[in-house]
Amino acid sequence: MKTLGEFIVEKQQDFPHATGELTALLSAIKLGAKIIHRDINKAGLVDILGTSGVENVQGEVQMKLDLYANEKLKAAMKARGEIAGIASEEEDEIVIFEGERAANAKYVILMDPLDGSSNIDVNVSVGTIFSIYRRTTPLGQPVTEADFLQPGHRQVAAGYVVYGSSTMLVYTTGAGVHAFTYDPSLGVFCLSHERVMFPAKGNMYSINEGNYIRFPLGVKKYIKYCQEEDESTQRPYTSRYIGSLVADFHRNLLKGGIYIYPSTASHPQGKLRLLYECNPMAFLAEQAGGKASDGKNRILDIIPQKLHERAPFFVGNSSMVEDAERFIKQFP
Ligand code: AHG
Ligand code: MN
Ligand code: MN
Ligand code: MN
Repeated sequence: MKTLGEFIVEKQQDFPHATGELTALLSAIKLGAKIIHRDINKAGLVDILGTSGVENVQGEVQMKLDLYANEKLKAAMKARGEIAGIASEEEDEIVIFEGERAANAKYVILMDPLDGSSNIDVNVSVGTIFSIYRRTTPLGQPVTEADFLQPGHRQVAAGYVVYGSSTMLVYTTGAGVHAFTYDPSLGVFCLSHERVMFPAKGNMYSINEGNYIRFPLGVKKYIKYCQEEDESTQRPYTSRYIGSLVADFHRNLLKGGIYIYPSTASHPQGKLRLLYECNPMAFLAEQAGGKASDGKNRILDIIPQKLHERAPFFVGNSSMVEDAERFIKQFP
C-alpha cells in the first residue's frame, strides 16, 4: 500500500531541483480535504446544511458548506506559508497571503472549494477542485491578479477531491493522472488508481437536458446523435447527470463519457468558471488521454481576462468531444 504522501515524495525525487514547495502545497490540499471529508460525513448532525443567505460575486447564493470549505482550505494553505495567494469561487478578489515567506513563495492556487453545492443538502456527491500555477511576478513581492490570469496550459498541477461513496483525491502534475482513496480509519489517502486513462470508447453523455430548449443548434443535434440507434458506435448512449461537475467528470473518466455545459440563450458563456472549474478538469482530461474544448477551441489555450469568467465546456473521451465539435461546426 502506498500513501499519497509517499507517492508525492517518490515523484519529487524525479526532479532533482525541486524545492519541496509543490509537495507542501499538495499536502495542504490533502489536509483541507480530510477536514471537509470529516464534516461532510456528519453534515446532517451539525449546523452546516442549507444556505448562508449571502451571495457570491457571481450572484449565486452561498451554501453554509461553500463558505465552510472555503475557510478551511484557505486556512490550511495560509498555515503552510509556501503559498503566495489564492483565488476562490467564494472570494470576490484574489487573497494575498501576508508575510515574507508568502511573498517569496513560488505558487498560487485557484479553487472551487465545494463543487456541486445544490447536492449538499440531499446527500449526493460533491467535490473540491484545485489548480496550481507558478507565479509570473518577481519573488519577494505580493502576488497580483496577473499571476492568476494565466492560460490553463501553464498549470503545474491540478486535481479534485470527490466526496462520494468513498472520498478520493485525483491529481496530475503533468505526468499522468493518479487517484487515491481515503481510508478514514487510518486517516490516509492510499494509491488506488495509478495512471488513470479514459477507456478507449465512451458511451455516456452528461448534460442538464432540462435546458435543451436554450442550447445552441449544434449541441441539440449532438444530443440527438447520442440518442440515435447505431450498433457500430454503441448508440444510444447512456445519459447520466449528477449535477456535480467533479462527480460527473469522475464517473466519465472511469467509465468513458462526455460532460457538457454549453452556452445557453441566457448564459452565452455557459455556467462553469474557466479558472477553477474548466482548466483543472481540462488538464486532468488531457493527461488521461481525453480532450477539453469550449466547443471550438482547446480550453487550455484560452487567455483569461477575468478571475471569475465562464466558458462553455465539453470534456471527456477525445472522440466524443471531437464529435460534439463537429456538430457545432456543422450547425453554427
Ligand atoms: P458550484 O456548486 O461549485 O457552484 O458548481 C456548480 C456547477 C457544477 O458542479 C455542476 O456541474 C453544474 O453547476 C450544475 O449546474 P446545473 O444545475 O445548471 O445543471
Ligand atoms: Mn457555486
Ligand atoms: Mn463548481
Ligand atoms: Mn463551488
